[in-house]
Amino acid sequence: MAELSDAANPDIIDAAERRWAYAVAGVVVFVFAVIVLAGVHWAAQPPSNVEAIDASRLHLAGEFMEGNLGTEMQPDGTAVVRVLAQQYAFVPQCIVVPTQTRVAIRVTSPDVVHGFLIAGTNVNTMVVPGFVAEVRTRFDTPGAHAMPCHEYCSVGHEDMWARVEVVDRQEFVRAYGQQRRASCVRQ
Ligand code: CUA
Repeated sequence: MAELSDAANPDIIDAAERRWAYAVAGVVVFVFAVIVLAGVHWAAQPPSNVEAIDASRLHLAGEFMEGNLGTEMQPDGTAVVRVLAQQYAFVPQCIVVPTQTRVAIRVTSPDVVHGFLIAGTNVNTMVVPGFVAEVRTRFDTPGAHAMPCHEYCSVGHEDMWARVEVVDRQEFVRAYGQQRRASCVRQ
């Protein structure tokens, strides 16, 4: 019974325990290093997306010009929503999106930091001037969601609200299929 006598040998037990102690210490050091590095990395940049944009020229050129705001269906069947968050309104005031569709929401600000949150979903990001915040999501059921600004952005902050209308995908295609931009703001 060599195994039994090996197992009872204190040297072998010590060596095995030491190996496990090193392995566990290694895991702890690794996890700690990941936490520290990730914390420093994310603290050094704005949340969600690091994409710089010239906040002073949003209205002059590029994707955040007025005519480009709102929901745009892509050739691959996904949707891109472009929103401007500014003191003290979102443009557009109402976003319409289809259900069962991958939606990328791109938001930026020409003035100060705003918050972008869609109530009842996990969409929640800061909007920092000079950067484009991008959130990818998907709405499974039709309905309406409130969309308040949740970063204090000065005196008009509490009036800075918009809303999101989630429309059944077939209905959406019927209503907006011919248009390049979809918006539930009545014009
Ligand atoms: Cu915008 Cu608070």
